[in-house]
Amino acid sequence: MGKIILTASGKGGCGKSTFAVNLGYTLAAAGLDTLLVDFNIGLRNLDLYLGLQDRVLFDFGDYLAGTCKLRKAVVTDGELDKLHLLSCPQIRDIKGLSRQHVSGLLSELRDLYDAVIIDAPTGIGELIRDLASCADAGVLIVTPNFSSIRNAETVSKRLEGQGLAKRFHVINRVRAGSTDPSLPRVEDIEKAVTVPLIGIIPEDENIDIGNNAGRPVVSARDSYIARNFEGIAARLMG
Ligand SMILES: Nc1ncnc2c1ncn2[C@@H]1O[C@H](COP(=O)(O)OP(=O)(O)OP(=O)(O)O)[C@@H](O)[C@H]1O
Ligand SMILES: [Mg+2]
Repeated sequence: MGKIILTASGKGGCGKSTFAVNLGYTLAAAGLDTLLVDFNIGLRNLDLYLGLQDRVLFDFGDYLAGTCKLRKAVVTDGELDKLHLLSCPQIRDIKGLSRQHVSGLLSELRDLYDAVIIDAPTGIGELIRDLASCADAGVLIVTPNFSSIRNAETVSKRLEGQGLAKRFHVINRVRAGSTDPSLPRVEDIEKAVTVPLIGIIPEDENIDIGNNAGRPVVSARDSYIARNFEGIAARLMG
């Protein structure tokens, strides 16, 4: 039975999708059959960040509607055969998506893969609550801003309210050498977020370049960032 990992943040643009693709790539490269599931219905990005946009013909909305089989909606990466993507609709909504649909889909996926990584929508909407109640671990992505910290705490409490006890945070976009006293330091963030810190990701142009090129930055296997994600994955998976 696989592990379901949920990414979350209180503010948009903190790096949830970036974290999801790089974690997924890291786990797949380590030999785990890994499925990334994009739950940003209408605003998906994982297909682009993985360079799979031209191969996504169906999504989980089609599967739930009975239009296609699950294996038609799942796309496997061209480079790593253990890395898979299940997208959500790009422009339309999924009408009547209930808690039962979400939990039924996720329990089916859990039986098929070693790791299921959910890229969740920002904030504290109904969908994130449904997702949290099915997940084994939640990762809050926080950036060095007081607003991001506060909102991450709010999301963390919502996840806790759904029974998601195993929660962690990752600090993303940390600028090396930044000493401006008005910006929260890593130590301040770690103190303010009440769930354990499992990783620090620097601000790095190559991360953005990787997303735009459709190749997660950790696909350069001998890079410092690949090592960094291996450490995060090990702490997360226990
Ligand atoms: N550590 C980083 N260094 C440089 N750029 C980054 C870093 N992390 C993320 N980015 C860039 O920041 C932007 C937002 O990242 P991303 O799409 O992962 O955020 P998100 O939390 O998923 O956003 P949304 O709330 O819209 O879903 C992207 O252009 C991404 O390439
Ligand atoms: Mg995103």
